[in-house]
Amino acid sequence: MKVIEIEGGRELTGQIRISGAKNATVALIPAAILTDEEATICNVPEITDTDALCDILKELNVNVNRSTESLVINPQNMKNVEIQEEFSKKLRASYYFMGALLGKYKKAVMYFPGGCSIGARPIDLHLKGFEALGAKVTNEKNKYTVEAEELHGANIYLDIASVGATINIMLAAVRAKGKTVIDNAAKEPEIVNVATFLNNMGAKITGAGTSTIKIEGVDHLHKCFHEVIPDRIEAGTYLIIAALCGKDLRIDNVIPEHIDSLTSKLEEMGIKLDIGIDYVRVLEVPKKLKATDIKTAVYPGFATDLQQPFTVLLTQAEGISRVTETIWENRFMHVPYLNALGSDIAVENQTAKIQGPTELKGCEVVATDLRAGAAMVAAGLKATGKTTITNSEHILRGYESIIEKLTNVGAKITLKEI
Ligand code: EPZ
Repeated sequence: MKVIEIEGGRELTGQIRISGAKNATVALIPAAILTDEEATICNVPEITDTDALCDILKELNVNVNRSTESLVINPQNMKNVEIQEEFSKKLRASYYFMGALLGKYKKAVMYFPGGCSIGARPIDLHLKGFEALGAKVTNEKNKYTVEAEELHGANIYLDIASVGATINIMLAAVRAKGKTVIDNAAKEPEIVNVATFLNNMGAKITGAGTSTIKIEGVDHLHKCFHEVIPDRIEAGTYLIIAALCGKDLRIDNVIPEHIDSLTSKLEEMGIKLDIGIDYVRVLEVPKKLKATDIKTAVYPGFATDLQQPFTVLLTQAEGISRVTETIWENRFMHVPYLNALGSDIAVENQTAKIQGPTELKGCEVVATDLRAGAAMVAAGLKATGKTTITNSEHILRGYESIIEKLTNVGAKITLKEI
C-alpha cells in the first residue's frame, strides 16, 4: 500500500505547473485506435490511469512508445481481443475501448469497468447509444459484448448529460454510416479536446462543447498529432491548496475559464486572485474567510471533482457553508476523515454542512478515492503536525508528480510503500 506523509502547517511559495488533463487523456488513448496509423499525443500526464490504459493497448497488440510527456500509439498490427477483467477493472475509462472497438471493428468484448467508488456508476446510457447506432448488446455476468453488422447514424437524446456516454457514443459514431446527433450532450472541455483529436484524424464532428453534437461518419481516419489540454481539476486542487497555505503561490499552465466556477467562489469568500492568460495566483487571503455554499453541476457548473478539496477550504471559513453533491451519490467519504483532523461537518442526504473555522491537527486518514485523497492532501498541508494518508495509490491515479510539485513549493511531503 502507498502512504503519503505530510508535516503540515508550512507556507507554500513558488509555482506549480499543471499537467495534461487526466479525463481527456483517458479518452484520447482509446480513441487513438480508431485509425490504423500513428497518433502522437503530447502533454500526457504520468499517472497510473495512463499506465493502465497503455496496458490495455498492449493486450490489443498496439504499439505504444512513451517519451517525455508524449505517447506515440501505432495500431497497425492491432488485434481485437477480449479485454479481461483484470485490465478493465483498474479504471472507469477502460469503457472507452467499448466505443472505440465498436467503431473500428463493429465488435467489442470487455468486462465492466472499475474506478472510484463514488456511486453506482451505471453505463446504461452508453449501451443505449450503441444500440441506437445499430449494435446489439449482450451481458453475461460482468462481461459485455457489443456487436453490429453495420453501424448507422442515429438521433440520440441522453437522459443525463453524461461525460462518458457522450464521448463513448462519439467514438462509435465517427466511423458509422451517416449522421449522428447527440442531444443533451455533456459540454466538458475534455469532450472538446477529444472531438478536436478525432477531427485532426479526419472525423467530422461539430458542436462539441455545446449540448448538441453532430457527427458525420467517415470510412477512414488518419495519423495525427495532438496536445492534451491542461487538467482543470488538478489546477483547481492546487488553487485550493494555495488558498489554504500559499504565500505568493502561482498555478501555471491553466486555462482560467475552465475553472471560472471555482475562481468566482474563491473571490466570493474574499480571496484576491490574479488571473492571467494561462495562470492563476492567490494574491491575498483575508484573515476571516467568508462562508459560502456550493452545489455541484455539469460543466460549466461547480465540478463535482473539486467538491471534496473545496470542502477543506470551507472548514477555514467563518460560519456555516453547505456543499450539495448532485452528480454522485457517494461522494462524502472524505468527511469522517476531515472530522478526525478537527473539522465540524455533518452530512445529511446529499448536503454537507460545514461549521467553521476549525483548527486542523494531523492524524492518520484514508484516501477513499482519488479526489477524497486530494482533499486529504490539502487538509494535511493545512493541519499542524503529521498527517498520514493510507491508500494513497488512489491519488497517484490522477495527480502527476504530486510529491515533487508540492515539495518544490516548500511542502514537507513524502510517499512510501508499506
Ligand atoms: C466523468 O465520469 C469523470 N471521469 C469523473 O471524474 C467526473 O466526476 C464525472 O465525469 C462528472 O464530471 C472520467 O472522465 C474518466 P458521467 P463519468 O457519465 O463519465 C450517471 C475523477 O475524479 N450516469 O458524466 O463516469 C452517473 O451515475 C472522476 O476524475 C448514468 O446514470 O460521469 C452520474 O450520476 C470521478 N448512466 C451522472 O450520470 C450512464 O450510463 C454523471 O456521470 C452514465 C452516467
